[in-house]
Amino acid sequence: MPQHVLLNLTTFCQANCAFCIVYDTLNRPELNMTDEQIFTTLKKAREDGATEVGYTGGEPSIHPRFLEIVRYAKELGYTRQSLNTNGIKFKQEKFCRAAVEAGVSSIDFSIHGHTDELHDGLVDKKGSLEAIREACAHLGKLRSEFKFVLSGTVVVTSKNHENLRTVCEFMTTLGIDHQRIKYAYEGDQTSEKIIAQVPPYEQVVPSVQSAIDYLASLGKGFHFTHVPLCLLGAHAAFSQDFERRRTLMVFRGGSQEGEAANYFRTSAAECQRCVAAPVCTRLDGAYARYHGRPTLKPFASHDELEAMFDAAEARFTKAQNIVKYFRRRYRENREVPAAPEFNPVRLHKDDGPKPV
Ligand SMILES: C[S@@+](CC[C@H](N)C(=O)[O-])C[C@H]1O[C@@H](n2cnc3c(N)ncnc32)[C@H](O)[C@@H]1O
Repeated sequence: MPQHVLLNLTTFCQANCAFCIVYDTLNRPELNMTDEQIFTTLKKAREDGATEVGYTGGEPSIHPRFLEIVRYAKELGYTRQSLNTNGIKFKQEKFCRAAVEAGVSSIDFSIHGHTDELHDGLVDKKGSLEAIREACAHLGKLRSEFKFVLSGTVVVTSKNHENLRTVCEFMTTLGIDHQRIKYAYEGDQTSEKIIAQVPPYEQVVPSVQSAIDYLASLGKGFHFTHVPLCLLGAHAAFSQDFERRRTLMVFRGGSQEGEAANYFRTSAAECQRCVAAPVCTRLDGAYARYHGRPTLKPFASHDELEAMFDAAEARFTKAQNIVKYFRRRYRENREVPAAPEFNPVRLHKDDGPKPV
């Protein structure tokens, strides 16, 4: 049983992100987990040894029993409770207090732009970035009373990648502790809506490298994910891919243990010759179909990866602790067998296996 359980609390969402990976299951109550499933899953997973729970969706914070669920998980002994959120609900000061009081220990705001125009446009909801600004101000005031982490995720799309570094600078002004850069993936789907949001790697890599240069200079926690490791030079040392965190992912129709980062991923021919393939998120299943074959440079030996980490430690002096951390994870995880393929489509149906 993995330490971490990820619950898809609801399919309802107040936003409508242009690139939303779960766009086809949004606002479909027939796909929502029942409350009984949520409570039972939390109990069983805890009995089986899980200590961390993540809430996602849809928008988890608008589940009508969100606070009750968090309180229950705390009573069960979960030591870490996190959620991804569009932040709209956290505009209410009262809700911010109630959430951290109930036991939320990590709030991950999805922040895709540094201006209202860019962010609100991408999530298709006016006032969204202002809600996040207000939420961060409320939560900032609660820091002396409660222990929690504020994190921010920027999904890199064709509309915001040129501003990526500025978006990261903006997150710093909000008081975000930990930043995550997540290259938008297509999800192996044929939705033109999403494909139009996904830029080819050659366009994005310089923006990602520049943002990493900035983040590494801060000496605070950050990582990126979903860009093939071989495309980034020494910047690859900051990839979350090295974690390979096993998670129990739970939907209405069932649950599956796997690596959430491997959602819809596939190997290119070059990945077969790459020693980093077991830890790399590689390509989206739809990438080559829409963008052509990227020029990948497989790592021929573990020594090449060690040299990449050496170069990163020498270059990013203020972020050496992060490089060291990911080097350790890489050494531990490089021989770990791959988790089973993860198939969220099957788990969204109501006729699959029941949650744990
Ligand atoms: C589907 S959202 C649901 C949670 C919440 N409503 C939010 O906006 O964060 C879960 C996470 O996936 C990210 N995400 C959504 N679409 C994505 C895509 N196409 N590629 C990569 N990440 C994506 C979001 O930014 C968020 O961090």
